[in-house]
Amino acid sequence: MPPTDRPILVSRRTFLLAGAAGLAVTACGKAATKSASVAAKVAPAPVTAGYNALWIPPALKGPNFDLSLASSSKQMQPGAKSATYGYNGSEFWGPTLFMTKGDPVKINLANKLAEDTTTHWHGFHIPADMDRGPHQVVAAGATWSPSFQVKNRAATYWYHPHMHETTQKQMNLGAGGFIIVQDAQEATLALPRTYGVDDIPLMLTSRSFGADNTIDTKTIYGDVLFTNGTPKAEASLPARVVRFRILNAEIERAYNLGFADGRIFHVIATDGGLVNAPVPVTRLIMSPGERYEILVDLSKDAVGSAATMQSFNSGFSLGFPGGEPASSGAFGSLLNNKTFDVLRIVVSASTSGGVTSVPPALADNKYWSAKDATNTRSIAITDHGPGSPFSFDNAGYAMATINQTVKLDTVEAWKITNGHTFGHSFHIHDVQFAIVSRSTGPVLDYEKGWKDTFYIQVNETVSFIAKFDDFVSNDHPFMYHCHMSNHEDEGLMGQFLVTT
Ligand code: C2O
Ligand code: CU
Repeated sequence: MPPTDRPILVSRRTFLLAGAAGLAVTACGKAATKSASVAAKVAPAPVTAGYNALWIPPALKGPNFDLSLASSSKQMQPGAKSATYGYNGSEFWGPTLFMTKGDPVKINLANKLAEDTTTHWHGFHIPADMDRGPHQVVAAGATWSPSFQVKNRAATYWYHPHMHETTQKQMNLGAGGFIIVQDAQEATLALPRTYGVDDIPLMLTSRSFGADNTIDTKTIYGDVLFTNGTPKAEASLPARVVRFRILNAEIERAYNLGFADGRIFHVIATDGGLVNAPVPVTRLIMSPGERYEILVDLSKDAVGSAATMQSFNSGFSLGFPGGEPASSGAFGSLLNNKTFDVLRIVVSASTSGGVTSVPPALADNKYWSAKDATNTRSIAITDHGPGSPFSFDNAGYAMATINQTVKLDTVEAWKITNGHTFGHSFHIHDVQFAIVSRSTGPVLDYEKGWKDTFYIQVNETVSFIAKFDDFVSNDHPFMYHCHMSNHEDEGLMGQFLVTT
C-alpha cells in the first residue's frame, strides 16, 4: 500500500520552502464538527528538494454538514505566518463536502469571523434564499442553517463567500472549499474516484504579500502560486489513470493548462456534469470560477519519473487575464505573461484495481440548442475607460434593483457581449447552461457540456441557453456577475428573479 493510502485525521507533513530551511508545520485538520469525517489523506513527503507535499482538503460526507469559518494562520512563505481564513480549522481553504444527488442536505454554517460573510454554493440549482448571494448576510458570530435537496449532476462544485464588496478580501484570505456531487450514473463508470489517491482536487490561486507576510487582500494577481494552498506543490500519484478536479479560484487570473511534456489529457467534466465523451486536449483555458475534471494517463510513466502540469500564460496579449506584461504595480505580478508550474507529479507504483484506460463514453446529455429558446436576453459588459469600474448595461450593481425577470420554466437564450477593454469570467446562479455560440470562432469542444461560468474575450459575444425551472420567488433574486471578484465587488453584477 503506498503511503497515500494511509488515512489519518490530522495530517502532519514537512513543509519545505524553496531556498529556505525546512519548517515543520502541522496541517490543521481539526474536524471539530458532527459531520461524518472521511479521513484526510496524508500526503507523502515530497521526494524532490524544494517542493512541498500537495495538501488534500479533508473530506466531509453528507447529508448533514457543520461548517465554521474562522480566522487562522498559515506558513505561506519564508518568515512570519500569514493571517488567513479557513473553514473547520483549515489554515487556508476548507474541507471538501461530498454530497449525493437526491440527498436532502442540511448545513450549519457558523460565522466565527469578526466580520459579516455569506457562503454561496457555486453551481447549485437551489432556491435563491438558500443560495446565499449578497442579500443573505451571516452576521459575525451568527449561524445560518440552509437546507436543500441536491438536484445537480455528479461534478465538482465549490463554496465561497459572496459578501457584496468584500468577496475579494475574504477569498484572498483563503475562504472557500470544494463540493463533490456524486450520482448513480457517474458511479457506473470506470473512473478514478479514490479521493486523495487517484481523484485529486486542485484549487489554483496566487497571492501577494505585504510587510510581515500579511496577505495583500487587494491581490488581483498574486506573485506566488498556491495549489490547494501549497506553494511549489508536488504530489506522488500512482502509475495509472488519474483524475483531477481543477478549480480556478483566482481573483482575476485565467490559466492555460497543459503539461511540460506536451502530453494529451482528457476533459471528462465541465462545471455541471460529465461530458458525453472524453475530449482529448493539450491545453485547457480556465477563467476564475470554472471547473474542469480531467483524466491524465500515468500508466506508461516510469515509476519515479516526474510530469509537470503548467500554465502556459506566456505570449498572451493584454486583455487575457494574467497576460499583462507588468511584473509589479496594480495589475502586475511575477507570474504574468509567464509559463509557470502548477503541480509537479512524481509517479509511484500503482496498486491493483486502479483505472488503466480512459472510458470511451461517459454520459448521454441532451443540451439545449438555440431553437429551444423562446426568449432572448442581451446583456452588455460596459466600461467607461481606464479607472472606471466595469458594469452590465451601464448600470453598477444596486442591491435593490432587479435587473431581469425570467418566467418560470422558460428556456432562454442569453447573449453576453463584451466591450473592448478586458476579458471577463461570466457566471450565473441557479442554472447550468449550454454555450451555443461564440462570435470569435467555434465553441470549444471541451466547453460543450453543462456550464455555469465561461471566459468571454475582448470584443466577443457569447450565447448560452438555459432553462429556468423549479424555483420561483418574488423576493429573492439570483445573481449573475463576473467571477473576477475585484470586478464583482466593483459592481459587475446584476440580479434576476424567476417568477410565475
Ligand atoms: Cu462563485 Cu456568484 O459565485
Ligand atoms: Cu470581469
